[in-house]
Amino acid sequence: MAIETRPKLDAHKLRADFPIFEQQIHGKPLAYLDSAVTSQKPRQVLDAMRDFYETSYGNVHRGVYTLSERATAGFEGARAKVAAFVNAPSERELIYTRSATEAINLVAYAWGLDNLGPGDVAVVSELDHHSNFVPWQYIAGRTGASFRTIPIDDNGELVLDSLDELASSGRVKVVANNLVSNALGTINPIEQLTAWAHEQGAIMVVDAAQAAPHLALDVQALDCDFLAFSSHKMCGPSGVGALWGRRELLEKMSPFNLGGQMIHKVDLDKTTWNELPYKFEAGTPAIAEAVGFGAAVDYLNEIGLDAIEQHEHELAAYAIDKMSEIDGIRIFGPPPDRRAGIVSFDIPGIHPHDAAQILDWDGIAVRAGHHCTQPLMRRLGVAATTRASFYLYTIPEEIDRLVEGLHKVKRALG
Ligand SMILES: Cc1ncc(COP(=O)(O)O)c(C=O)c1O
Repeated sequence: MAIETRPKLDAHKLRADFPIFEQQIHGKPLAYLDSAVTSQKPRQVLDAMRDFYETSYGNVHRGVYTLSERATAGFEGARAKVAAFVNAPSERELIYTRSATEAINLVAYAWGLDNLGPGDVAVVSELDHHSNFVPWQYIAGRTGASFRTIPIDDNGELVLDSLDELASSGRVKVVANNLVSNALGTINPIEQLTAWAHEQGAIMVVDAAQAAPHLALDVQALDCDFLAFSSHKMCGPSGVGALWGRRELLEKMSPFNLGGQMIHKVDLDKTTWNELPYKFEAGTPAIAEAVGFGAAVDYLNEIGLDAIEQHEHELAAYAIDKMSEIDGIRIFGPPPDRRAGIVSFDIPGIHPHDAAQILDWDGIAVRAGHHCTQPLMRRLGVAATTRASFYLYTIPEEIDRLVEGLHKVKRALG
């Protein structure tokens, strides 16, 4: 084996935290190389949720009895952890959502419907996930604004030279972009994009769904206006995500969902809204999931985001190096130091679904498809790719197994 992971992050040791790795798939140890779609869960998160259900479960912000107060404390305590994780200036700016998708939709609807119109431009990029692409395309269409995309080069990196041309096409009012691409792993120059957005008088919305699991995030250093992410990609449960937003903007925005909890006062003729963050949290939230989200943040902090990022760069470099030996393979995306632990590739003549199916017989889980990035797939000239994605529990031996498996796929189908 060619690389050693740094002692700071011992992936072999961390794997013991994840019960899912105790099983075999088709008689082989599970090589889970699909963490970009969702991550596996450590015992620490599972235990926090079980413990909460067993000792503290109730609805939040509603009861005066002990259990409800305990539940509220768990829920709000987790909010404080998640807010600190992205260095939010205030917990009130941290809104629980169901997912990154819902967080982006919240901004697109609640900010976009009131702030976009004819002559305005909403900008995303060719690299964006449908969850960031489609809401802006749709809201631009609803409001008469135009919708433009930043192109990418052959490395899968944004062509920032195109920004002047975009600026000349109208009033740029919103720039929404992912920090890390889920399809190629590209780490995008968000600070630069944010500075440009602000020069145009636009807001900057960062889709951090793929960044939050892998990089230390700081909304104040990024200087963005909104940042969206999901718990399930960062060792937490599914069903909960977060939107951080700049307080002045959130205060001015209309609500997104309406119902219980988000109201201040309801009269027959008029309703007024609750204070932040509750104005955007209608209905009973994902309570135990929020607690699990907080436990996931604790878990990642304990390991250290810098160590996780470094581990992924090393794995990406190792994978690209080993996979390049496969005859005819086309590996997409930038060099390893400018990407998270994601490697998308195509072996001409072999359909990604067939490759993924054969790999599964050896217990290797990879993704095949368009990765919710159809415009990107068109730009790359493919219908789909196969994608291997790594996380803190990925070990180089799994990449060796992937490469062996791909040789097998070629022998079977090539
Ligand atoms: C870059 C990016 N943005 C947004 C999303 C949507 O996240 P979720 O499905 O958790 O809402 C994903 C999920 O794959 C993603 O990778």
